Amino acid sequence: MEFNKIGVVGCGQMGSGIVEVAAKAGLEVLAMEITDELIEKGRSRIEKSLGRAVDKGKLSAEDKDAIMGRIKFTSNLDNFADSDLVVEAVTEDLKTKLETFVTLDRVCKPETALASNTSSLSITELAAGTNRPGRFIGLHFFNPVPVMKLVEVVKTVATDEEVIASARAFAEKVGKVPVLAKDGGGFIVNRLLVPYLFDAILVYQNGLATKEDIDNGMKFGCGHPMGPLELNDFIGLDTMYYIGEILFEEFKEPRFAPPPLLKRMVQAGYLGRKTGRGFYDYSK
Ligand SMILES: NC(=O)c1ccc[n+]([C@@H]2O[C@H](COP(=O)([O-])OP(=O)(O)OC[C@H]3O[C@@H](n4cnc5c(N)ncnc54)[C@H](O)[C@@H]3O)[C@@H](O)[C@H]2O)c1
Repeated sequence: MEFNKIGVVGCGQMGSGIVEVAAKAGLEVLAMEITDELIEKGRSRIEKSLGRAVDKGKLSAEDKDAIMGRIKFTSNLDNFADSDLVVEAVTEDLKTKLETFVTLDRVCKPETALASNTSSLSITELAAGTNRPGRFIGLHFFNPVPVMKLVEVVKTVATDEEVIASARAFAEKVGKVPVLAKDGGGFIVNRLLVPYLFDAILVYQNGLATKEDIDNGMKFGCGHPMGPLELNDFIGLDTMYYIGEILFEEFKEPRFAPPPLLKRMVQAGYLGRKTGRGFYDYSK
């Protein structure tokens, strides 16, 4: 089955990126947010991102308008009834995601495939909340979606082969490189990346070096485009905290436990770039 009518639930950092790349690939996209204000925020994030591509000469102004024309917005999940694929990109919280999928399962036609962009929750557990585990899959995009080439396609023991093939084809259609992973905590990338990002917070917390020197160490010593503290800010400190809690619960290994400093920063409302303050100050 080809996925032509795409739904995206949650139009934050990741959802808006998924909407953008799908519409750019010529697909009709319906995006959902909970309030009109958040719909406007999502729409403007997509417009700005496409605007930057126009400024750089990578996209024409006409193409930008055509892409925006393929995107519709809603605040009601009922409107996903005839989607071929719905990708969920809401907050990394099991209860919120399960509630979303229970509703989608009820309103969508039987052929609709449901996908989660979760970074750390079990795809199997989310699928089990629906009556269509065979048509349920993980589609884990990377941030920023318009730039990063990878999509982890995550299969459970119940996912139909046909849905896996359609999901891979969809990832390729939106310009990404799919890799296939089983449903194990953190899949491939976060299983390896999260302990590293937490270690950076721990060494900073322990006073080993300044944040700038920790980041420069990894940028100039290892060729990483971003240092680990910058990357924590970029992902979102709340998202990092949720991911750590979920992976620690799964593996019970200290390397997955969110460092105390991360918890304090989240409690203080320092969520990284998206709130203008994390390890660094982005308010200017
Ligand atoms: N930030 C990253 O680097 C990254 C990378 C890959 C995957 N993810 C995953 O993507 C998902 C979203 O993360 P994000 O960074 O975009 O977070 P975000 O906070 O930017 O966006 C989440 C959005 O979901 C919306 N939302 C919350 N409850 C909702 C509901 N019931 N219905 C519809 N929308 C709802 C919020 O209003 C918000 O706009 C998470 O599962 C996260 O783990 C994040």
